[in-house]
Amino acid sequence: MPFPNLFEPGKIGRLGLKNRIIMAPMITLYVNQDGSVSDQMLDYYWERARGGCAMVIVEASYPRGYPGRIFLGSDQCLDGLTKLVKVIHEGGAKACIEVNTHRGMDDEVDPASASEMIHPMKGIKVRALSVAELKELQKAFGEAARRVKEASFDCLMIHGGYIISEFQSAILNKRTDHYGGDVDNRARLGLEFLAVARENVGPDYPIIFRLPCQRKDISDRSRIIFKLPYDETIEEGFRVEETVVVSKLLERGGVDAIGVTSAAAGNYRDIYGAPNMQMPRGLNASTSKAVKKQVTVPVFVNGSINDPNLAEDILMGGKADFIELGRPLVADPKFPNKAMTGNAEDIRKCILCSRCVESIFRAPVGPMVCSVNPAVGKEKEYELQLKPSAQKTRVLVIGGGPAGMQASIVAASRGHDVSLWEKDDKLGGQLNLAIIPPGKDELSSLIRYLTFQLNKSGVKVVLNTFATPEAILKYAPDVVIAAVGSTPLMPKIKGIDKRMVIRFEDVLLGKVEVGKSVIVVGGGFVGCETAEFLSEQGRKVAIVEILPQLASELFAPYAYQTVRRLKERNVELYVGVKGEEMTKKGMKVISESGKEIFIPADDVVIAAGSGSDQTLSKALEGKLLRIYEAGDCLKPSRIYEAISQGADAGLRI
Ligand SMILES: Cc1cc2nc3c(=O)[nH]c(=O)nc-3n(C[C@H](O)[C@H](O)[C@H](O)COP(=O)(O)OP(=O)(O)OC[C@H]3O[C@@H](n4cnc5c(N)ncnc54)[C@H](O)[C@@H]3O)c2cc1C
Ligand SMILES: Cc1cc2nc3c(=O)[nH]c(=O)nc-3n(C[C@H](O)[C@H](O)[C@H](O)COP(=O)(O)O)c2cc1C
Ligand code: SF4
Repeated sequence: MPFPNLFEPGKIGRLGLKNRIIMAPMITLYVNQDGSVSDQMLDYYWERARGGCAMVIVEASYPRGYPGRIFLGSDQCLDGLTKLVKVIHEGGAKACIEVNTHRGMDDEVDPASASEMIHPMKGIKVRALSVAELKELQKAFGEAARRVKEASFDCLMIHGGYIISEFQSAILNKRTDHYGGDVDNRARLGLEFLAVARENVGPDYPIIFRLPCQRKDISDRSRIIFKLPYDETIEEGFRVEETVVVSKLLERGGVDAIGVTSAAAGNYRDIYGAPNMQMPRGLNASTSKAVKKQVTVPVFVNGSINDPNLAEDILMGGKADFIELGRPLVADPKFPNKAMTGNAEDIRKCILCSRCVESIFRAPVGPMVCSVNPAVGKEKEYELQLKPSAQKTRVLVIGGGPAGMQASIVAASRGHDVSLWEKDDKLGGQLNLAIIPPGKDELSSLIRYLTFQLNKSGVKVVLNTFATPEAILKYAPDVVIAAVGSTPLMPKIKGIDKRMVIRFEDVLLGKVEVGKSVIVVGGGFVGCETAEFLSEQGRKVAIVEILPQLASELFAPYAYQTVRRLKERNVELYVGVKGEEMTKKGMKVISESGKEIFIPADDVVIAAGSGSDQTLSKALEGKLLRIYEAGDCLKPSRIYEAISQGADAGLRI
């Protein structure tokens, strides 16, 4: 069998598990408004359970009502939760649920922590929780734990982040009572939650403790650029050594398993908690290894383990007993079954873009979506729509970027006769550019996956073919799907016509040689990545951006990370400035306050965004009955839009 360690049965306490893959808890915002389990949620978890993982850990639930979260604060939750357990069991997996205690300083209703402070990002006052309040929280937590067992969950996970990790933190916890001081005292709160859960579920019921930790080397690389009053990632943070000490305390306290994860308090869990593609794969495995050496209970690990080979290596190397997969099971719920049956190349790999995180945390928040899996959150509906079409039609897809590829795959899988024309000599569209900047190579797995599926579904791919309206009409398809991408925009700057204008695409593709010093005009994420690329090649780089922020299309934590990387590379950042004039020696810009700045450079590279491209569909209007559009040609955006709109177009036929 491929991956023998991954598919070896295991145990948590007395609970037998069929393999070593566990689905990590992830908020979806699919819950009903009253905090009860919705049908959408049942379908989402059913799909993950039947994909072959041994156990599903349902997302963080709350003893207190909290918007978008499962509510465990009254017995009314039992009906929905019992149904959820049934669905997970029917899918073939064991069911666990994570219970959170209090969201600490990030609690929107009641921002409170171990000690009084000012929230580092929000600037609001955070109060210290009293001992009486801690006891109240524990009482409610204990009742929630009882309900988890009553709803027939096979085990319970305690969320060790938020208030628990804030108490554990030597930086945040300044208390002088028995919750503050040495590590034993700082760990006390977590241990008390464990004890109260145990009282309510009995001695034999498996309890897992999710233990966040931050590795110093990773933290140092990832430190937020903005000066914060504190950051767990700096010296005294809650790191590997303390994680090991706390793990031993938890084991002594009667825990049945420990789930090592990244992101402790105060270091912007949205970034480290779901590490992006620029960070290392399997980044928590050295921490879990350190913990595993010191405890006898099973140890889980998670964090960008998006490949079964890596999961197998971690187990084989004795670094963990179970692999928790979060986003990889969002991207492809069938990851475990595909790996088990020797079809790993069929896995739709998570590209670690964290668009899922963005969907649930970036205002206006909405239900979770995924860049690469258009079925997320509409599993049943999607499966029904994928059924073969009553009428087979001749479909012509123009453009082999992600939108066109996904549209072709869906249309072909529904039984249509599909051809895809691509003007370039390869598939992938802009993804072929996107993979070039530092740390972006994970995106090549998406090109590989889509190409594999295109071949499997029998789409006729015709490369090096520029689709003109005439050629399309001659081909006489029943339906055209235009997925031709966008056209680059040129900024109107005096002198731009007098010098050679270099486009970012040509730079990334190595088609033009640039000088030692370069200005990149445009500080959207594409401009920033182009600047990173140039800087990695040893160029002196400056970015000029008219907006007040760089990479503003990205969710704030990921935009910060982008800026941090640029700063680390000494890229000069001119933000909120207007390009005034380009000369042979560089470029003149005007700041918001009206100050003129001259930036000397050998070359100027343009990455000033792109516009929609509907010329093809307009030219075909009235000449063909059915034309659909998908992806950047409608509105330049990102992979999620391209893939989901491509899938929608394929489903409409
Ligand atoms: C440097 C860079 C980094 C990026 N990084 C990310 C990222 O990290 N995350 C993210 O979500 N998005 C990223 N993007 C954006 C993402 O790549 C695009 O949103 C996505 O590729 C759009 O897909 P599409 O299929 O609509 O268009 P495209 O990918 O542009 O594909 C259009 C295809 O149509 C072909 N075509 C055009 N006209 C014709 C014609 N007449 N006949 C035949 N073929 C034609 C083109 O050759 C092209 O292959 C990045 C983009 C760039 C440039
Ligand atoms: C959309 C999303 C929601 C999450 N919600 C939770 C949560 O409810 N509780 C929790 O402990 N961790 C949560 N996490 C963190 C994941 O459980 C996991 O630790 C993290 O995504 C890293 O693992 P991965 O690389 O396999 O995704 C969430 C992550 C994502 C992507
Ligand atoms: S949105 Fe991106 S990070 Fe999230 S599961 Fe999908 S591919 Fe992975």
